[in-house]
Amino acid sequence: MTVAEPPSAGCAPAAAAELAGPPKATPPKAKDDPTRHKVVFVLGGPGSGKGTQSARLVEEFGVAHLSAGDLLRAHMKSGSPEGQMVADMIKNGQIVPSHVTISLLQRAMDESGKHKFLIDGFPRNEENRASFEKQTGISPEFVLFFDCPEEVMERRLLGRNEGRTDDNIETIRKRFHVFIDSSMPVIQYYDALGKVARINADRPAEEVYTEVRRLFMEF
Ligand code: ADP
Ligand code: C5P
Ligand code: MG
Repeated sequence: MTVAEPPSAGCAPAAAAELAGPPKATPPKAKDDPTRHKVVFVLGGPGSGKGTQSARLVEEFGVAHLSAGDLLRAHMKSGSPEGQMVADMIKNGQIVPSHVTISLLQRAMDESGKHKFLIDGFPRNEENRASFEKQTGISPEFVLFFDCPEEVMERRLLGRNEGRTDDNIETIRKRFHVFIDSSMPVIQYYDALGKVARINADRPAEEVYTEVRRLFMEF
């Protein structure tokens, strides 16, 4: 690691501050620094099993699981105008502006006290992806992509029974469109960087997990 040069002898403090210019951003942490934030993005269509598999990874590996959808659903209950906007967008299957989602993710990361994160359901579009990397300086270690046919996901979502405003056939169809149009390009972006681990998610959850857990042995 490089250490900043001290101001030269004889330089008055005010002048030194002027020479130093504006405060610098915190330098990135070294790869082997155990306090460096490490992130895996967990992506896949609605109902592909992101939450189900993430819960198992938390249990076995003690990583922090942050679901962007869960954070947004909690936020929509805040009663604020922004919360109302989030509620309307979720009901319509639309992607919430990045600044809202990223500040929720950043706060949750800070409050977790952990360094290894599964970020589930994010980034959902190019704006999510570029803004997150710019604001946090974090690039994912890899991306888990749960690949699942629409008819399977549709059946799972209709049977999920969690009282969600978006698990109805009309919103499900909109979410599938948004996934193809906006989220698949993000997966293609990371695929071009060689960062995508594609998992066939159309299998029993135990079988999917057997494959998923292998990827985390060295995370
Ligand atoms: P996502 O977070 O990707 O939207 P969930 O993990 O919430 O998906 O799963 C959606 C629904 O499908 C849940 O009711 C869950 O119990 C069920 N489910 C998840 N994985 C499987 C699987 N491999 N086989 C069958 N049902 C599954
Ligand atoms: O991932 P999950 O299915 O819980 O997301 C539910 C909804 O939350 C999405 O359909 C979308 O409206 C919103 N969302 C978002 N941006 C994200 C993740 C979720 O707008 N990055
Ligand atoms: Mg989920």
